Amino acid sequence: MLNGKKVLYSGMQSTGNLTIGNYLGALKNWVNLSDEYECFFMVANEHSITVRQDPAELRKRARALLTLYIAAGIDPEKNCLYYQSHVPAHAELAWILNCYTYMGELSRMTQYKDKSAKHADNINAGLFTYPVLMAADILLFQSDVVPVGIDQKQHLELTRDIAMRFNSIYGDVFTVPEAYIGEVGRRIMSLQEPEKKMSKSDENPNAYILMMDDKDTIIRKFKRAVTDSETCIKYSESKPGVSNLIDIYASCTGKSTAEIEKEFEGKGYGDFKLAVGETVTDVLVPIQQRFADLEKNKDYIDSVIKNNAEKASYFANKTLRKVQKKVGFPELIR
Ligand code: TYM
Repeated sequence: MLNGKKVLYSGMQSTGNLTIGNYLGALKNWVNLSDEYECFFMVANEHSITVRQDPAELRKRARALLTLYIAAGIDPEKNCLYYQSHVPAHAELAWILNCYTYMGELSRMTQYKDKSAKHADNINAGLFTYPVLMAADILLFQSDVVPVGIDQKQHLELTRDIAMRFNSIYGDVFTVPEAYIGEVGRRIMSLQEPEKKMSKSDENPNAYILMMDDKDTIIRKFKRAVTDSETCIKYSESKPGVSNLIDIYASCTGKSTAEIEKEFEGKGYGDFKLAVGETVTDVLVPIQQRFADLEKNKDYIDSVIKNNAEKASYFANKTLRKVQKKVGFPELIR
């Protein structure tokens, strides 16, 4: 609890441009939940270097991501938005937690298996211990709730295991967090291979919709979306392409699957794809406009970054000091 509210914590990597998967699976829920909780939204730029990055590009993307959080509706006066690399406590706690996490646990992580297969020339130790840094992020803030897409569920479960293990040795040090995974939008799939998650690192740009795509691009990509050889708009496991489009439409409009199936009864895939494309455009364009305005306001973004780094450090250091004391590190002599 912080200021009488439960704590909500989440973050995104500043690698590549965000897709509507990131938005519908996570960012949209952050905005919806932000009034109810005391919130920390972090830019995970330390996680990003587990894969090789161009330094100038990484710096630019971190700033763009933080600006996009605001453009999507996170109020920086009421919520703490900050860069992970501005709060050294993340890396310090991650080291300690590394010593309370087993190799076997980390080698079972599917994201590690996927990423090491994809970057076989750079299977670094950071890629392996990535979930421990994520656990440190969450546990530093005594977080109650962590809104994420379903692909992060396994990391959340590991975070809970690490917290409980640590607490069982040293007493109640960490709040054990719960994942918040929305009903719709929890797993937005590729538009080209709907059995695969939509990902910004996909080689085929037609597989994803970026939050910064313009209207024509969005409509074109939805028109090309892979469906099936039938004609009915029905949610079914045997129709992954159509079901994914229904999910996207449901998530953007708040309509239920049944309402959507009824709305498009007797209509063809062409009409449906166009409707999905237009709805997604209606959601994204205002965010893009706010983003463009905010980007021009350099001083404002700078002040958000400065103030929030201090605020985040203050809370993170409180937990870190407690942990250091528990494990037996001597206090500073002043
Ligand atoms: P990242 O950067 O891969 O993704 C950011 C968020 O977007 C969600 N997401 C999706 N949701 C639905 N459908 C999709 N296709 C889709 N693709 C991505 C992710 O589930 C995530 O919520 N390790 C994290 C970043 C992180 C973090 C944290 C998150 C670092 N520290 C602490 C929460 C708390 C990651 O790589 O997310």
